Amino acid sequence: MADEKPKDQLLEHSYDGIQEYDNPMPRWWVITFWATIIFAVAYALNLGGIGVGAGRIAAYEREMAEFRAAHPAVKAPDPAALLAAVANADEVKEGKAIFTKNCTACHGPDGGGIIGPNLTDDYWIHGGKIEEIGATVTAGVLAKGMPTWGKILKPKEVEEVVAYVWTLHGTTPAKPKAPEGQLVPR
Ligand code: HEC
Repeated sequence: MADEKPKDQLLEHSYDGIQEYDNPMPRWWVITFWATIIFAVAYALNLGGIGVGAGRIAAYEREMAEFRAAHPAVKAPDPAALLAAVANADEVKEGKAIFTKNCTACHGPDGGGIIGPNLTDDYWIHGGKIEEIGATVTAGVLAKGMPTWGKILKPKEVEEVVAYVWTLHGTTPAKPKAPEGQLVPR
């Protein structure tokens, strides 16, 4: 039939003297056009990927669950281990070295505070118990710029640096930052 069709057939209508030929879109174009519409409907209905057997939302959830299983949240040190580190002069000394290397940029060389809060006073934003300090250091406060040290330092190093922070309490920093948070008398 396509062969019989006369080429460049003029349509009957004329607008302001302008006429047009009847040129249908090529078949490949029309097929692609309808295919995109069918694909859009299948996508919106969340039909499964070929061979996956689940919708893309379920596939996403599954991948996220796998990722979380492979990257467990870091565990905060337990209070007994922290108190043992405080009692051990070598571990506190190690902690001081870790503090000097990693923490002074934000908390000052003596813990008096710069960007980060003063660690020598009685005021704590995230709790002043030793296990609370351990939890804060482990998890960090990313929204405020405090890194997740549990993912950077080894668990032992977290214990040591927290033990050192614990010993900073009551010391007098050169330029103490004003207290922040709640009063937690020790
Ligand atoms: C890049 C800057 C930065 C570095 C480096 C940093 N901190 Fe912090 N830290 C902060 C900020 C900012 C806060 C306050 C978070 C908030 O306001 O919630 C904070 C809070 C804390 C707190 C909680 C204080 C409170 O009042 O509850 C502790 C404890 C702490 N940091 C310990 C450390 C230790 C230990 C290190 C090194 C291993 C360290 N920080 C390194 C920025 C930093």
